[in-house]
Amino acid sequence: MSFESLWADESAIGRSPDTGGYTRGGWSPTEREATHWFLDQCAARNLQVESDGIGNLIAWWGASDGPGVVTGSHLDSVIDGGAFDGPLGVVSALAAVDQLRAEGFEPGVPIGIGAFVEEEGSRFGMPCLGSRVAAGVLSAEKALQLKDRAGVGLEEALDTAGLDPARVGPSPLLRRMGTFVELHVEQGRGLTAPVGVASSIWPHGRFRFTFGGEANHAGTTLMEDRHDPMLTYAMTALAANKQARLAGARATFGRLSVEPNGTNAVPSQVTAWLDARAADTATLESLLAAITKQATERAERDGTTLEVTPESVSPIVDFPAGLRDRLVNVLDGAPVLPTGAGHDAGVFSDAGIPTAMLFVRNPTGISHSPAEYAEMDDCLAGVDALAAVLKDLAK
Ligand code: GLV
Ligand code: MN
Ligand code: MN
Ligand code: MN
Repeated sequence: MSFESLWADESAIGRSPDTGGYTRGGWSPTEREATHWFLDQCAARNLQVESDGIGNLIAWWGASDGPGVVTGSHLDSVIDGGAFDGPLGVVSALAAVDQLRAEGFEPGVPIGIGAFVEEEGSRFGMPCLGSRVAAGVLSAEKALQLKDRAGVGLEEALDTAGLDPARVGPSPLLRRMGTFVELHVEQGRGLTAPVGVASSIWPHGRFRFTFGGEANHAGTTLMEDRHDPMLTYAMTALAANKQARLAGARATFGRLSVEPNGTNAVPSQVTAWLDARAADTATLESLLAAITKQATERAERDGTTLEVTPESVSPIVDFPAGLRDRLVNVLDGAPVLPTGAGHDAGVFSDAGIPTAMLFVRNPTGISHSPAEYAEMDDCLAGVDALAAVLKDLAK
């Protein structure tokens, strides 16, 4: 089937009529619909699907055992995200396999198409949840303690999706991942050619900042009598922005929770999640230290409290140079670039699987937004590039 028609089908799933965006948290109805669409596509191609306890999938073309070349990405999204982040890699993999079959290519080793679950961590807060558990970086015990914003635990979410929580743990799927190549939309205006190859992924951390204060009346409490955690948070957000600029890094507070969340009350507590990233580990560590120091000083001034809890830390990933160069050669000298976005490819690379990434140009660099975009011609160039890479790696 052509990429265009696969893309039209997949990107219709769960698109919001209001924003044009997608909200596909792991194991949610929209994410399950996309997953079932993927399984139908695999069945139509006679691919042998293997799954693990948490719901990661690999659909195999070729021999039913032994390691192979796996490509793919994820079908979940951030809250009100774009069409491309994740699904482009899965749909391009299906189209590349169709292309290779139409050419009569016979793989020397099996080729697998992977769809890894809850990559964004938009439902349970943990990025790359499926691949982390699969690789044994996050224990089943810790994973099963996670709850979503509605208080639903991972165990219940898996149960609802027809998965068995008792099977959650290091995944047998990894044994067959001889090589992994993830195709992904580029996310930072870093690519001016249609297709590029990744060099590295920036280290990344998510930290929960809990600011405690004293709830009080908005009309009667003198400004100097307040212990307002919103004020401490606001100054922290400004400090984070400044420190990240100074360090050439990134710091974002994109999620807040306020207690009691009333217009006419000074809040008793503000919880804010910091997403911080930098080109190297030392810069990331000193960025976090600088933000924490300024937040602590401000809390003293405001008579509020501060607790900083790391929720996840993703180390720097340098993709193996030999494999990267092999892709560059196959693609006649495609540009090489790093990314500040996290990917399952990083988790698999850390787990010792030779891993590479292909990027497809994103003309505006907008991502994690309904406005995320790539030109159809560039997506088709991505499919051609992926097919060429698979042909080389699986010959
Ligand atoms: C996910 O794409 C992330 O980098 O947060
Ligand atoms: Mn993303
Ligand atoms: Mn992604
Ligand atoms: Mn990602």
